[in-house]
Amino acid sequence: RALIVDFGSQVTQLIARRLRESGVYCEIHPFNKVDGAFLGAYGPQAVILSGGPSSVTWKDSPRADDAIFELGVPVLGICYGQQVMMEQLGGKVESGTSREFGRAFIEKVVDDPIMSDLFHGGDTEQVWMSHGDHVAEMAPGFGVIAKSPGAPYAIIANPERKFYGTQFHPEVVHTVHGRELLRNFTHGVAGLKGDWTMAAYRAEAIEKIREQVGKGRVICGLSGGVDSSVAAVLIHEAIGEQLTCVYVDHGLMRHGESEQVVNLFREHYNIPLVHVDASDLFLGKLDGVSDPERKRKIIGGLFIDVFEEEAKKIGGADFLAQGTLYPDVIESVSAIGGPSVTIKSHHNVGGLPERMNMKLVEPLRELFKDEVRALGRELGLPESFIGRHPFPGPGLAIRIPGEITREKADTLRKADAIYIDEIRKAGLYDEIWQAFSVLLPVNTVGVMGDERTYEAVLALRAVTSTDGMTADYYPFEHDFLGRVATRIINEVKGVNRVVYDVTSKPPGTIEWE
Ligand code: XMP
Repeated sequence: RALIVDFGSQVTQLIARRLRESGVYCEIHPFNKVDGAFLGAYGPQAVILSGGPSSVTWKDSPRADDAIFELGVPVLGICYGQQVMMEQLGGKVESGTSREFGRAFIEKVVDDPIMSDLFHGGDTEQVWMSHGDHVAEMAPGFGVIAKSPGAPYAIIANPERKFYGTQFHPEVVHTVHGRELLRNFTHGVAGLKGDWTMAAYRAEAIEKIREQVGKGRVICGLSGGVDSSVAAVLIHEAIGEQLTCVYVDHGLMRHGESEQVVNLFREHYNIPLVHVDASDLFLGKLDGVSDPERKRKIIGGLFIDVFEEEAKKIGGADFLAQGTLYPDVIESVSAIGGPSVTIKSHHNVGGLPERMNMKLVEPLRELFKDEVRALGRELGLPESFIGRHPFPGPGLAIRIPGEITREKADTLRKADAIYIDEIRKAGLYDEIWQAFSVLLPVNTVGVMGDERTYEAVLALRAVTSTDGMTADYYPFEHDFLGRVATRIINEVKGVNRVVYDVTSKPPGTIEWE
């Protein structure tokens, strides 16, 4: 396993992604947590020092624990990581008169295993620079492996100790063969085998769950989404009947979604599932409410109430299972002014474990979203389920601006199903991060046959994104939009006008509320 020491770069997570893609298990830990004791317990076979926003030339900027350099394992410093390594091992770092951001081309100075399979078909490699400081003098034992016109120390190495430093960022896609360079470091230099697979993860996770839970009882709240479903199936494989799944149905799910969840668990996996149809309760409490934040609070609170009641009915549980993912638990290093810890808590069941005095089982804590999907495939979840677009916890409630009624929810579900159906037929579903419809609290005048109509407007939304943090609207062909609009207006009573949302995020958000 490899270790990534985080100095707060925006792209540290990408280093982990690249390593895992090449079959190397790794974890990210903040620089100030990585000391001799930590290293002894973790046992890394390779260490990567990330980039970061600070300057080595500042008095109190972060440093790597010296124990890292005494471990006797290969170390790769990226950008700030390179500079920290140089400064700590006896070199010099200067603040640049010119900062360098963007594309640069490096050329080989001497052969080195870290560059094998690079430079094929040319003398230069495109890399991505993003730094203000630079190494001015290398530490003893280091030599230049590659340089660029603006960076005489683009790649440096101490081959004897297997220490490497790159001034550029190999983890970003703009460094064309960065993936290969990282692989050369972990596989070639550090000798890692790259045999970390989802099958191996599954077996390991099952062992861990058994160990943690023992003979205890586990309750798992399903949301209908991929994360909680994968967690539940995995836990069931580990402890069978000790697990009870509870699906709190607020009646604001997409078309056919609740049936799909219930069938998947009961029929496909034969996992006991309590399906609580709480739509009357939720819709009742939401009656007359139009403020988005109030809607969210009501739904979140009710969810906890209902879940708690069900847990009592089944006689209580010792553990609560959650589909928490790795990006939610990575402790982030704040930009300037030293480390600060921000840990996002998972939505939906936040606060439940404390209230109910349960411990948490979180078997996906080490995985990224697409790794969860891969694990889902490994566990036999259907592709249609795994590849489904994200859906917010509060469901259709935040896609019906204004007051919510059962009738409006039904109208929205019907229209949305047509939209999604057309997207699938056009082969665009997987290209789009998220597509959905919003039923507006606005009526407009139309004419159908010879009749005047006065009905609701439906907005269509589709965005591309990689993580939901930023997004761009999807550029549908006009023919496609026309086809969807015609079908919806013909087939869905109560809608007589369809519009398309072309707002990106920022400044918009993905959901309308
Ligand atoms: P926004 O609207 O903030 O959405 O741009 C970003 C992503 O998060 C989803 N979303 C939620 N997911 N509970 C969730 O589980 C929520 O309350 C919630 N609100 C927004 C949204 O669908 C998009 O994928």
